[in-house]
Amino acid sequence: MVLLNLIFIFSCVNCFYSELVKPVSNHQSPLNRKRVMNVIGAEKLSHSYDYEGSLNRSLENITLDVPQGQWLALLGHNGCGKTTLVKHINALLQVQRGELTIAGLDAKNQANIWRIRKASGMVFQDPNNQFVSSVVEEDIAFGLENYDTPVSEIPAQIKRVLSIVGMSGFEKKSTHMLSGGQKQRIAIAGVLAVNPDVIVFDEATAMLDPEGRQEVLSTIQKLNHQEKKTIIMITHYIEEAVLADRIILLNHGKVLGDGTPREILSNLELMHIAGLQPPLPVSAYHDLQAAGVKLPFCPITNQELVEALCQ
Ligand SMILES: Nc1ncnc2c1ncn2[C@@H]1O[C@H](COP(=O)(O)OP(=O)(O)O)[C@@H](O)[C@H]1O
Ligand SMILES: [Mg+2]
Repeated sequence: MVLLNLIFIFSCVNCFYSELVKPVSNHQSPLNRKRVMNVIGAEKLSHSYDYEGSLNRSLENITLDVPQGQWLALLGHNGCGKTTLVKHINALLQVQRGELTIAGLDAKNQANIWRIRKASGMVFQDPNNQFVSSVVEEDIAFGLENYDTPVSEIPAQIKRVLSIVGMSGFEKKSTHMLSGGQKQRIAIAGVLAVNPDVIVFDEATAMLDPEGRQEVLSTIQKLNHQEKKTIIMITHYIEEAVLADRIILLNHGKVLGDGTPREILSNLELMHIAGLQPPLPVSAYHDLQAAGVKLPFCPITNQELVEALCQ
């Protein structure tokens, strides 16, 4: 009876993420599925902020390769260095120590900064801070003009990226009139317009309601699967990280864990050290085990929990 109740409860709540986007296959290694050339390569990357005269170490010896086309989620508690790391990937911070290559460009070479920013676009938490114009088409055109796109090509490019983010026909709309999810999708369109290899999302869903989050996650999935973009996604929502190919867990500026969502999220010890709550299905798996109910595998999504309970 308890099991039946659990099945019912999780069937009911299993609507948002599992309906939205199917997680990567349960039983294959997505890291192997997409083994192609690396678009990001970091070797012993370290960084300190100079804060009121004292150095605050934010990254320590980060060594990391990201294959082209990978969807990587960066997780870790507040202040562990996630934003600092992705700011390096977008050349917003200079390399102090170590090596970093983005799309084959050496980030230590100042002459590469603009090319790195073109190769690696960034979407931030608050879409309102990302607009340079209050009219959708002008905002997207701004990035294109910055990168010397011929004026005659700009309308077609705007049309193309609006279609990809599911906002066709919004060219003349005011950004003030859009919902949070729509604003983020316009911000994504602006980034996409200059055709970057990598798109970084720094908590891009944090300020959105569930509907807006769903819109943005679907768009990220499309960018990765259809447009073949490499995705670096920082999120506080563990359920979102399940969708990635790979998770890197940061802790005090260091890599604490690196593996598939299943490897990382089902590892209670790692999650505990990182100060993160495991996904509900993982906790349920361990709670049931403690109560003497052994499920056939450790589920990381609600859908998998239902499957495990049914088995
Ligand atoms: N501009 C800054 N000046 C000084 N210290 C900073 C600055 N930005 C971040 N830090 C510090 O660097 C560390 C890493 O911060 P951050 O990369 O923003 O972490 P996260 O994105 O994981 O929350 C934290 O200790 C934070 O307080
Ligand atoms: Mg941050």
